[in-house]
Amino acid sequence: MKKNWFDEKIDKFSFIGGYQKPELISDAVKLDSNENYGISKQFQNDILTSARKNSDVREYPLGGVERLISVISKFVKIPSSMIGVGNGSDQILDLILANFASKQTKVLTSNPTFGFFEERCKLYSIPLIAIPFSNDMKLDIKDFIKQSKNADILYLDSPNNPTGFQFSKSELQKLIKSFNGLVIIDEAYGEFGSYSLASMVKTQENLIVVQTVSKSFGLAGLRLGYFIANKKFTNTFMTILQYPYPLSTITIESGILALEKSNLMRDAVTNIKIERKRIIETLQKYDAFEVFDSQANFVLFDAHGVYKRVYSALAEQGISIRKLGKIGNHDGCLRVTIGTKEMNSKFLLAIRDLLG
Ligand SMILES: Cc1ncc(COP(=O)(O)O)c(C=O)c1O
Repeated sequence: MKKNWFDEKIDKFSFIGGYQKPELISDAVKLDSNENYGISKQFQNDILTSARKNSDVREYPLGGVERLISVISKFVKIPSSMIGVGNGSDQILDLILANFASKQTKVLTSNPTFGFFEERCKLYSIPLIAIPFSNDMKLDIKDFIKQSKNADILYLDSPNNPTGFQFSKSELQKLIKSFNGLVIIDEAYGEFGSYSLASMVKTQENLIVVQTVSKSFGLAGLRLGYFIANKKFTNTFMTILQYPYPLSTITIESGILALEKSNLMRDAVTNIKIERKRIIETLQKYDAFEVFDSQANFVLFDAHGVYKRVYSALAEQGISIRKLGKIGNHDGCLRVTIGTKEMNSKFLLAIRDLLG
């Protein structure tokens, strides 16, 4: 081996920033990662306790993924042969990029798009064609249809992180039908939006819809994502691309129990939508802010010149939101996750004390 080869190789990665995690603030009112505290701690304790009883971690979870997939199949009403799983939807996106894209593959997406996806494209030197959001944080479908002629893969997070924007269902279907390449629709926040494209997979061979229990089910720490796609892709992904045992026994067993109680998730989503409206309407009352509509469990707003002050003042009070800064012509973007009523009230009161 050539001397320093290893060192040089490590240095080559330094041009990639890596995914920016939020600051770790202890005991924070955590409104920075689009987690869902509307799912009670009791629910979490119950499923983890039962999962432990069903688990023997001396063994590899042989047959576990298959049992989990059959429960996901009932939940999404799609046959098991069209469902695959991953260690978070992050891992599913990563495996697709690593195996289906290269330096020659052009990926069409929006700007901004999901930060992790963008970082993985950089890691694999995959070129991105990124269509910017308009000033009011909307996308124009015509721009996508035009640019899709030059692309091999279309990736859209629907609703989009961090804007909260979602195309109308018919517009997105039109774009997908007009596109020849691979389409990845990331529905991490799908339950908070107005529709899902999961059933379109039955008729659209080039479509992969990715979903997760991290957001609507409030189980981000389980690291459980899944996708819905045609049988041939699903079989290749699960038997060749995916690891033999991608999920821990505890993740499998807890995931099964959570999906069987999806009514709790639906109640939590309903409450989050009510709270989302309250947060948007309250923030809109401040002249200092420009607030964007959202179909997700977070709200993006431009605090212009005061965004650093708002972010730090909240952090000092133990309220953690996400500081994003410049998005297009908007210089001071902040993103706040919709928490429980109590958490949201703390956030809104702190804003009132600062600006009211
Ligand atoms: C758009 C989008 N997709 C995927 C993910 C990753 O979700 P998971 O926890 O399933 O890896 C996130 C998490 O923030 C996200 O915002």
